[in-house]
Amino acid sequence: MIKLIDWTVAYPDGTKALDRLSLSAGRGERTALIGGNGAGKSSLIRSLVGILPGQGTAEIAGLEVRKENLQEIRRRTGVVFQNPDDQLFLPTIRDNVAFGLKNLGMGKEEAEEKVRNILQQFNIPGLADRLAMKLSGGEKRLAALASVMVMEPEVLLLDEPTAFLDPKARRNLIRILKRLPQTMLIATHDLSFAAEVCPRAVLLSRGTLIAEKATEEIDEDLIS
Ligand SMILES: Nc1ncnc2c1ncn2[C@@H]1O[C@H](COP(=O)(O)OP(=O)(O)O)[C@@H](O)[C@H]1O
Ligand SMILES: [Mg+2]
Repeated sequence: MIKLIDWTVAYPDGTKALDRLSLSAGRGERTALIGGNGAGKSSLIRSLVGILPGQGTAEIAGLEVRKENLQEIRRRTGVVFQNPDDQLFLPTIRDNVAFGLKNLGMGKEEAEEKVRNILQQFNIPGLADRLAMKLSGGEKRLAALASVMVMEPEVLLLDEPTAFLDPKARRNLIRILKRLPQTMLIATHDLSFAAEVCPRAVLLSRGTLIAEKATEEIDEDLIS
């Protein structure tokens, strides 16, 4: 469902974020993408949806990552970026969460119902009418997750989803993710979170794969 063969990603300044990376994540599986700062996790996620160009072969949601497929890939794939400010661009949380649904042409009442349900699921019904720019980091993160999940994408790419979350919100997120049927690739350095949510993990260091194994077998010392 997600497959990379010799996938290389470089920034305009020449920094190589991924160097001929090959890996695969099965359909319906939740795979953790583990690695220390600068390992290439965020770059991998960005490259899968075409925000960063890559060379080699990459496939996601049944489509090869190339220009002509990007629109469909982005329709089938939900991404929660490392920085929630990147995806809350409308004034209220309600507007942000409803944005994608309305874009699909969904009627107002159906969209409102879905927004209500997802905010309930995330235990944040009270945020609906709050201004996105005035929320805490954790509240923004939950709202960004809700705005992506409400679209029910086939594949979910989550970048450091537990960043800024308090223990209760973190626990709730674990519960939600474990219930979902989607294929997921979750970038994180939160090993205990990864072990609870993702049976399998791929370990990156400096843009290359250094291990692929059961998440609970990953030793913290391996993360660099
Ligand atoms: N905008 C950028 N321009 C140049 N290099 C970048 C940029 N963003 C990240 N990098 C570099 O790409 C590499 C991988 O970074 P990143 O994918 O953010 O790692 P991670 O998410 O695992 O911490 C690092 O060496 C980082 O310095
Ligand atoms: Mg990152």
